[in-house]
Amino acid sequence: MTGRARSPFAKVAVLATSLMLFAVGCASNAPQTTLEPKGPRAQSIHNLALPVFGIAGVVFVLVMGLSLYVVIRFRSRSDEDFDEFPEQLHGNFKAEIAWTAAPAILLLVVAIFTVATIFDLAKKPTPEALHVEVTGQQWWWEYSYSYDVDGDGKADKITTANDMVVPAGREIALRIKSNDVIHSWWAPALNGKKDAVPGRSHPLTILADEPGEYIGQCTEFCGLSHAEMRVKVIALSEADFKAWATKQIQPFEGSAEVAANAGWSQFASQCTSCHRITGMTDPADTTGKKAFTYPKVINQVSGNAPNLTKFMTRTTFAGAKFDLRLPTKECKALGVDWASTKEGIDKCLNRKQLEAWLRNAPAEKAMYAGDAPSVESRGMPNFNLTEDQIDDLVAFLITLQ
Ligand code: CUA
Repeated sequence: MTGRARSPFAKVAVLATSLMLFAVGCASNAPQTTLEPKGPRAQSIHNLALPVFGIAGVVFVLVMGLSLYVVIRFRSRSDEDFDEFPEQLHGNFKAEIAWTAAPAILLLVVAIFTVATIFDLAKKPTPEALHVEVTGQQWWWEYSYSYDVDGDGKADKITTANDMVVPAGREIALRIKSNDVIHSWWAPALNGKKDAVPGRSHPLTILADEPGEYIGQCTEFCGLSHAEMRVKVIALSEADFKAWATKQIQPFEGSAEVAANAGWSQFASQCTSCHRITGMTDPADTTGKKAFTYPKVINQVSGNAPNLTKFMTRTTFAGAKFDLRLPTKECKALGVDWASTKEGIDKCLNRKQLEAWLRNAPAEKAMYAGDAPSVESRGMPNFNLTEDQIDDLVAFLITLQ
């Protein structure tokens, strides 16, 4: 420690920070707590962490207590004390064996349980597991599913973003990848962290015991909006999950009215170089029966921005930074059904935030440092849309349900 760090100010700062951290740990609404596991693998980590924390706590209290005792008990009481040299322990065989063996045994015990937990966590998922590919992108998560949803013997593809919808009670086998830099996927209630590394595919198995929402976030610094790259796992009952998946694979069915909508041409000209809507914007996709009513878009880059098929079935947008709508319960309390009626959308859609995002996305979530985007910039740029264009786009986006 430097002399400066010992100043009263430093002491107060350290004390205040500790108290603050302690207080933060007491938050009543802490969706990212690691202390309330909601799945077997998180439980397994918890079962290891608690006793280890206990052992560390005992060691801490013992060492600190003994140090304090020695400091007080053997403090110098007069100047004469300095003349005497305290009795030296160096070379005391018994003492050295004791303070080498005790920590070694302690670490060995911890290691046995740690290795057992590692094996437990590395267990292969069951054959019934649902496979989901997770792709980290600056700064959002993409989730791709490929399995036979409708039972016709062919694999159906679902690509979504921000909300990972899964069936509760079933193992979910994730393959974690990255499309740019290193990220790390973490939903603390369900399992530990797993890095998303470009060019690699890392397995992670999660299982949510009960239906519910499990919040997490990217835990590897990945650029400006790292802190706003959130994870949201929505676990549904098997029946609700099947209904969700069935809806997701329905091809886009827009009416001629939507195709004539100014929002669609706006979307086609401004948005489709990054965003795709399966069955509408991919010329190679022939499953969109009604896609012919739309001008085909061929300048797609895609893969770098969320696929917006069934956008309105999500609960969040912009890397789960913003709620797309009121929670279903709150919406029901208003006496409306989300998305199924115009009234539902009027009352529940987070229109203000969606409009703000379309107006100037980098102002809502940091996309680049400095004043202007560069070639390396990631995320949605500011398109300088007019208010009319924004209204048209929102009117179009609402049809993506
Ligand atoms: Cu992605 Cu941090």
